[in-house]
Amino acid sequence: MIQKVFKWLISPLGRVALLIAALAALSAVIWGISLTQKTPAQPIDFPHKRHVAMGIQCLYCHPGAARGPSSGLPTPTKCWGCHQQLAITKTSALLPPLVAAVENGAPLEWVPVAQVPDFVQFNHRPHIASGLNCENCHGDVAKMNVYENPQVLNMGWCLDCHREKSAGNPELEKKLLDCATCHY
Ligand code: HEC
Ligand code: HEC
Ligand code: HEC
Ligand code: HEC
Ligand code: HEC
Repeated sequence: MIQKVFKWLISPLGRVALLIAALAALSAVIWGISLTQKTPAQPIDFPHKRHVAMGIQCLYCHPGAARGPSSGLPTPTKCWGCHQQLAITKTSALLPPLVAAVENGAPLEWVPVAQVPDFVQFNHRPHIASGLNCENCHGDVAKMNVYENPQVLNMGWCLDCHREKSAGNPELEKKLLDCATCHY
């Protein structure tokens, strides 16, 4: 029996079948990896573009960014401040989850997209204090609908900018490139 299978596998048809199986396995792996990179489904497709175009500041909805480690996301109550008065809230197909969250006093379960692992210490405050804009790291959010990271937020990305910003300043170089600055 095993010999029969083996003979079939090395026959031309068997080889084609093997190739197809290998390609299928490979594409399954690639698909799996792409899932971890893709923007996840959010409870509401929140259109950044349209809100920023109205002149609402990033810090109105993400006030923590200037103050500390975490920017924070707006609560349903904050959305409701505007949306309870808007006709679009009743007619929009996107907004029933907001109405339900307000009625039930429940949060909206936004899926984090801009995120580094727990063993990395990131703090917004020193970055904003040094004059960086949200756009330097998050891309042109004013043009986005659902938020997507413009790049992978990995160690090489942090270090590239830290190297660039500290070039020629040994003290800053030591601080910004030291492992303990980001891992402790
Ligand atoms: C400062 C007022 C304001 C705040 C705060 C606000 N919105 Fe809006 N939102 C609007 C206005 C005005 C529109 C309609 C804009 C347009 O027609 O382009 C809108 C449109 C939307 C739409 C598009 C609806 C559709 O069907 O086209 C969604 C979804 C939405 N808002 C969700 C939210 C969520 C979720 C929050 C809280 C995180 C929020 N908004 C906070 C004013 C606000
Ligand atoms: C009206 C409120 C509002 C305004 C104004 C707003 N955002 Fe947001 N932002 C949200 C909400 C709600 C989410 C969560 C939904 C999502 O990730 O798509 C979010 C998500 C994000 C995220 C991803 C968060 C995560 O958990 O991964 C980033 C980064 C971000 N916003 C940056 C910005 C920047 C930069 C601006 C200004 C150009 C801005 N936002 C303006 C409401 C707002
Ligand atoms: C130097 C790069 C950098 C700049 C500048 C920056 N961010 Fe971030 N942002 C990050 C990183 C990295 C994370 C992931 C942090 C984590 O997982 O702890 C993040 C996370 C976020 C999140 C996710 C939720 C949270 O609570 O942290 C929001 C919202 C956000 N940033 C908004 C902003 C806004 C608004 C500005 C401008 C005022 C801004 N960021 C400026 C790098 C930056
Ligand atoms: C676009 C440039 C840029 C990127 C990207 C960036 N940083 Fe920074 N980072 C800076 C600047 C500028 C400072 C402030 C330097 C100073 O003190 O003047 C800073 C300061 C810091 C500090 C505070 C150091 C201290 O002790 O004062 C930490 C921690 C830090 N960054 C972590 C990170 C991490 C983690 C990432 C990646 C997830 C990251 N940074 C990505 C530019 C950047
Ligand atoms: C400016 C911030 C920063 C500095 C400085 C830094 N790291 Fe990291 N490190 C990160 C971030 C962000 C990640 C998570 C993302 C990733 O895996 O690239 C990480 C991940 C890691 C990991 C896990 C790797 C993995 O593949 O999951 C190790 C190990 C590590 N760092 C070691 C170091 C060592 C050793 C140093 C000093 C030579 C150092 N780091 C300096 C930001 C930093």
